Amino acid sequence: MAQRILTGIKPTGQLTLGNYIGVLRDLPKMMDKGECIFFIADLHALTLPIDPEVLRQNSIDLASFYLAAGLDPEKVTLFLQSSVSAHAELNAIMQNYLYMGELSRMTQFKDKSAKMKESAIGLGLFAYPVLMASDIILYDSDVVPVGEDQIQHIELTRDLVNRFNNRYGPVLKEPHYQVRKVGARIMSLSDPTTKMSKSDPKGDIYLKDDMKTVRKKIMSAVTDSGSEVKYDPENKPGISNLLTIYAVLSDISIEEAEKRFVGYRYGDFKKAVADVVVAELEPFQQKYQQIIDNKEYEKALQIGAKKAEAMARPVLNRVKKAVGLLDI
Ligand code: TYM
Repeated sequence: MAQRILTGIKPTGQLTLGNYIGVLRDLPKMMDKGECIFFIADLHALTLPIDPEVLRQNSIDLASFYLAAGLDPEKVTLFLQSSVSAHAELNAIMQNYLYMGELSRMTQFKDKSAKMKESAIGLGLFAYPVLMASDIILYDSDVVPVGEDQIQHIELTRDLVNRFNNRYGPVLKEPHYQVRKVGARIMSLSDPTTKMSKSDPKGDIYLKDDMKTVRKKIMSAVTDSGSEVKYDPENKPGISNLLTIYAVLSDISIEEAEKRFVGYRYGDFKKAVADVVVAELEPFQQKYQQIIDNKEYEKALQIGAKKAEAMARPVLNRVKKAVGLLDI
């Protein structure tokens, strides 16, 4: 059987260049490497308060971004997580095999909940990794391409799989994460020691930003002392982040990128970075707009949900049987 490649993106705030470089840009290349299962993690988006209209709009946007990146809906399975009820059903089973201690050690939970009053932290936020593990297990996934921040969740999924299989026999497939060697953690432009995330308007480049804004944000990105364009994440986090963005979008190595900018001043270097980002995002946005105008996402998501359902159901049934749930 062809290997199964699965990933999801949450339709919370606007998608960033971090999401794009970390995963989205690479997905079309995977169409020939295996069976691709890509989804909109809309149930996960409910783990923090979100306006219903915003969630609807973000979900449409995200589906269109997947397609604009170059995915062929005939070749991949693209769907809304909430359209395939097996995700929630498997979640109800799997929540019994992950424990409070390990869930409370998840960095993403600690980061998100640190800013909240305990009385406002939903159970779904705490149990987030259970649903994510269920997403992965449900399709017998082999490979899960993600950015660096999601590795911990996939390791937890692997622990869950081993724990479950030790108890019930070889029921679940063990997944592996796949992260980019370069670009697995794009940093904020305003504070290059923190990750670029959907909720940081100053430090983010949003995939929907107009080109003037994109240029402005890059030109005012925080740089470092000194004047050399060198890759040194510890001492030059700002320049290193821009070099990473440049190298990935130009499909060259960091070393090659460094060589191109020997003797450059920071300002000229930033201009070159802005040029490659604009060259990438401009056609991407045009495709996105066309997909939105023609509502191409609708058909793709309908077909995708059917295909996903057909793949998920046998796995769910296997799990139900293993734990002793009757099939009458
Ligand atoms: P999400 O929506 O936060 O992010 C989507 C993907 O983008 C990656 N990413 C980044 N990569 C590089 N640099 C950054 N600054 C950056 N920011 C985000 C993320 O690592 C992710 O791969 N829990 C997931 C969604 C999910 C999922 C799944 C993923 C739900 N179920 C099953 C894989 C498998 C999330 O919140 O991603």
